[in-house]
Amino acid sequence: MPALVHQSFSQTASGLACDGVSIESIVERAGTPLYIYSARAIRDAYRAIDEAFAAHPHAIHYGMKANSTLALVRLLRSIGSKVDANSRGEIDVALRAGYQPPDIVFTGVGKTREELEHAIGLGIGAINAESAGELDRIAALASAQGREARVALRVNPDIDAGSHPNISTGLRINKFGVPLQDARAIYRDRRGAAGLRFVGVHVHIGSQITTAEPLRTAARALAGLACELRDDGVALEHVDVGGGLGIPYEGRPMIGPTDYAAAVIPDLRRTGLPIVLEPGRSVIGQAGALIARVVDTKRFPDGRRFAVLDAGMAELIRPALYGSYHRIVPIRPRPQPDAAWDVVGPICESSDVFARDRMLPPLEVDDLVAVLDAGAYGSVMASNYNRHLLPAEALVDAGGWSIVRRRQTIDDLLALES
Ligand code: LLP
Repeated sequence: MPALVHQSFSQTASGLACDGVSIESIVERAGTPLYIYSARAIRDAYRAIDEAFAAHPHAIHYGMKANSTLALVRLLRSIGSKVDANSRGEIDVALRAGYQPPDIVFTGVGKTREELEHAIGLGIGAINAESAGELDRIAALASAQGREARVALRVNPDIDAGSHPNISTGLRINKFGVPLQDARAIYRDRRGAAGLRFVGVHVHIGSQITTAEPLRTAARALAGLACELRDDGVALEHVDVGGGLGIPYEGRPMIGPTDYAAAVIPDLRRTGLPIVLEPGRSVIGQAGALIARVVDTKRFPDGRRFAVLDAGMAELIRPALYGSYHRIVPIRPRPQPDAAWDVVGPICESSDVFARDRMLPPLEVDDLVAVLDAGAYGSVMASNYNRHLLPAEALVDAGGWSIVRRRQTIDDLLALES
């Protein structure tokens, strides 16, 4: 019986495997650094959310910002997901993946005129506006095109999501949305405005939320607004609660889709409207691992041990940017006792550290390790810093695997330069 170290990654006689496929065998052909995703884990996570909300009409608009690799977006489309896009680039990827414009909600601070024109022209399912000014610009642009844009207003309910300050979005110190108390008047003043059709209300208070309370409070605030708008005669089609459900990076029990649904449905039900969800991390986060090779080890006189990998903050910036925790698992753990390691990357920055004082079995040069739960906000946030080439990405499905994004080459990189 293989030891399950993680939902879809388990230790087998041939080392760590992803859904039974040996990671060493993938690395032999694909090299490192490498992102590996489990199609099964993506399907399972999507279905868990879908089933948790089954008692209420709902639509899952996968938050593409978490990971928009084309093959993964296509996979999600094939199982019935819709999408939340954050930029023209993400809208275009969604269209390439086969989505129709009505399947897309478009959210994001600072949408440009060009992006809005594009979204209006396409007939996007809902544009989640971030301010009264943006609503007015949408109205003007839509009227100029002789169209009616389907819009919702994003409210900022001033709720502490309890996650890292860099990924909280629902406090009044954050740049997102309009203050909740202003929202009703903004809708009222624009009722019947040419070019605008109000279809929803929207909130997203942050990401990696690990307790139900902030999600419940935000849903309650949003439901209250939707009911007030109903009283004002604004006929909405949905309430959009954004994303935010966290994943157990440390492997400890925490809320999951069922707790989330139980927390938000009772209040949202009062609105009589279908629920739109925009989960990103909870769909894709646990399905991906970053595979890296140890390129150097060293030990300082005070006993500190370093393992230097061929992947660092250029490939996965979350630890450097948010101090986030990712489990690290050797592909073939040596049987000797664990010791404390600093696992670091090769980038010329002191913050290029994946883990400090992490208890791990002995590591040697050329060993492979997996950095777990890297499916969300991993490859999408990768950069070419220090001229690192973007890593390859492989998808494991039904006992086989394929490269879904080839490794960038130096020619790819320099093709843009003169
Ligand atoms: N909807 C909106 C409007 C959002 O801003 C986000 C994420 C989502 C949905 C998806 O949220 P999720 O379900 O993934 O929590 N780079 C950070 C996370 C940034 C999240 C930004 N917004 C990280 O690596 O933790």
